[in-house]
Amino acid sequence: MIKLEPLTGRHDRNGFDCGVEVLNVWLKQTALQHQSKGISRTFAAVPADESTLRSWVQSGYRVHANSILGFYALTSAFVLTEDLPAQQAKRYPRQIPVTRLGRLATRSDMQGQGLGQLLLTDAVNRARMAAQAVGSAGLFVDAKNADAARFYQRYGFTASADQALTLFLPLW
Ligand SMILES: CC(C)(COP(=O)(O)OP(=O)(O)OC[C@H]1O[C@@H](n2cnc3c(N)ncnc32)[C@H](O)[C@@H]1OP(=O)(O)O)[C@@H](O)C(=O)NCCC(=O)NCCS
Repeated sequence: MIKLEPLTGRHDRNGFDCGVEVLNVWLKQTALQHQSKGISRTFAAVPADESTLRSWVQSGYRVHANSILGFYALTSAFVLTEDLPAQQAKRYPRQIPVTRLGRLATRSDMQGQGLGQLLLTDAVNRARMAAQAVGSAGLFVDAKNADAARFYQRYGFTASADQALTLFLPLW
């Protein structure tokens, strides 16, 4: 079992490795700084309880109670509708507020087990809840590469016509 919670200094940021150094470094060096200034909010997936932790350790994973299994970060942003997929763009005025999924990653040794889907689902739900109180037309993501873009497309994100790595999911 896995639970998602806001990132704090208690979490082991140095022990996290998703295979993409720029994301590892962002988590280690920037996530908490940005959080303290209100720039972004990061949510970490962690083992939900002792028995989960024990079973992973028995299976050979190097994890402890404060290990980060995956994380994502949300920020507010303002985008030009010309950066949205053409189908979506025509619904909106020229500039719109969105929620940007700035970062999303799972531990290398736990990839392919559904954790990415869990994180993305939580990010969409959280963005939807926040959009009840503060206007946000949808979730906007700059995928790192074509593989990552395909991951988002599986969950309904569509790519902008001329920027294949810029994807959007309307919340309304
Ligand atoms: C991309 C990433 C977050 C996916 O996490 P994950 O835990 O491996 O994903 P899941 O196991 O939940 O996979 C969910 C589905 O997406 C698919 N998927 C996973 N990675 C994919 C990829 N790179 N391209 C296309 N599909 C992918 C899986 O096959 C799975 O489909 P299925 O349910 O039909 O089997 C993870 O590979 C990662 O952290 N990569 C390095 C960092 C990165 O590239 N992040 C994206 C930043 S923009």
